Amino acid sequence: MKVLIAGATGALGVPLVRALIASGHQVLGITRTPGKSSLLTTLGAQPIVADVMDRENLLRAVSGQRADAVVHALTALPKNGPMRHRDMYQTDALRDVGTTHLLAAAREDAPHGGTALRPARTRKCAGTAPGGLALDGATDLRGDERRLD
Ligand SMILES: NC(=O)c1ccc[n+]([C@@H]2O[C@H](COP(=O)([O-])OP(=O)(O)OC[C@H]3O[C@@H](n4cnc5c(N)ncnc54)[C@H](OP(=O)(O)O)[C@@H]3O)[C@@H](O)[C@H]2O)c1
Repeated sequence: MKVLIAGATGALGVPLVRALIASGHQVLGITRTPGKSSLLTTLGAQPIVADVMDRENLLRAVSGQRADAVVHALTALPKNGPMRHRDMYQTDALRDVGTTHLLAAAREDAPHGGTALRPARTRKCAGTAPGGLALDGATDLRGDERRLD
């Protein structure tokens, strides 16, 4: 299975990339930072440099990749956690606008459906294929999946 992970370089993303690669899946990892591409390559993932908040940039970057599933593991929380409302603004935008852009990318890349977007809310999440194949047997997020077909 080919899995596109937005947030592949993060605290959640890195172990998720490792687990998917170890299970024999192909991983496309998104980062905004060209310098982090080597981390993804070392993990065995194919790096994709894109800013999820920039719709056209994201669509161009993933064009033709045809991932089977998309994982949202994006956040922009301050290191010590959110202390004020405004500390959440960027993360809220990633969860709202960023999710919309990822869905657009999934739709344009797999126009006949079958791609699923799974917001990552817990370390247990590794995603589920459209046919219901659990990747790690521990996912408890079935209700969060948004199917495009
Ligand atoms: N960490 C935890 O203990 C934990 C626990 C439970 C749930 N979660 C959830 O897991 C998810 C990920 O959290 P995390 O702690 O792994 O975050 P993190 O370590 O701060 O990593 C954030 C990731 O988001 C990417 N990112 C941010 N803005 C982006 C943008 N505009 N375009 C593309 N990529 C962008 C970063 O990529 P680059 O910097 O490489 O560009 C990085 O890979 C969140 O939903 C969080 O609530 C985390």
